[in-house]
Amino acid sequence: MIEGNWMDEEMKAMIGYIDFCDSSRKYYTRGDLQGDINLLLPATAVNMRLGATIPNFTAETTRGRIKFYDWLGDSWAVLFSHPADFTPVCTTELGRIAVHDHEFKKRGVKVIAHSCDKLRTSNLTVGIFPACRDIPGDFPYPIIGDEKRELAVLLDMIDEDSKDNEEAALTVRALYIIGPDKKLKLSMQYPASTGRNVDEILRVIDSLQLTTRLKVVATPANWTPGTKVMILPHVKDEDLPKLFPRGVEKISMPSGITYVRTTTDY
Ligand code: BEZ
Repeated sequence: MIEGNWMDEEMKAMIGYIDFCDSSRKYYTRGDLQGDINLLLPATAVNMRLGATIPNFTAETTRGRIKFYDWLGDSWAVLFSHPADFTPVCTTELGRIAVHDHEFKKRGVKVIAHSCDKLRTSNLTVGIFPACRDIPGDFPYPIIGDEKRELAVLLDMIDEDSKDNEEAALTVRALYIIGPDKKLKLSMQYPASTGRNVDEILRVIDSLQLTTRLKVVATPANWTPGTKVMILPHVKDEDLPKLFPRGVEKISMPSGITYVRTTTDY
């Protein structure tokens, strides 16, 4: 382990892998400098605002070591953390996402979970399978084992109360949707007390993919695929017939300004 709060040019040259650090941060490297540098992490989180590029981290998973960008390829991804193994709510989340794996695949989305517990294959069989007997076939997605919580820190998945507790910091229920361009498209953070809703995860993926494909619309509150979407205000009325040949509805508002235009032609 090499630890420091700066990195000089010699060190940078030796490591040759600095794609998300700057010289004012504290860095950690782990591994053999002559060989594979499998982790180079600042002691604080990287920028996880929407639009930020997710770093190309390396992680140990239930399916072996992955390099994030290689694993992601040209797909979308859902990366989600859960506070602890062998806990009831986490088990339901891992199980429900596994049961709906075909829905993620249908949308071209790879799924990967994150756990701060030791990687124990038995977790999958002992912890999840008996609770979720409706998972068809093998457990469908990898789980990252991040016992040292390095990735949890890097990706800002630890809450304010736990962040300084190096021993026992559990992650929150963080869920990141990452685009094929490796950028963060959507972020959800739920507390340990509240399990996530798989239908909502799929719904926001549908919205993200639709609005990436068709940049002139946005999806309204409670939207579900097939129902009306909103046409963005910058789209000119004269362009509507070409963009939406099957029709647009213009809603009269009390203000007299017609800014609500909807369509199901998408
Ligand atoms: C659970 O998954 O059940 C859980 C985990 C950590 C704290 C509270 C609940």
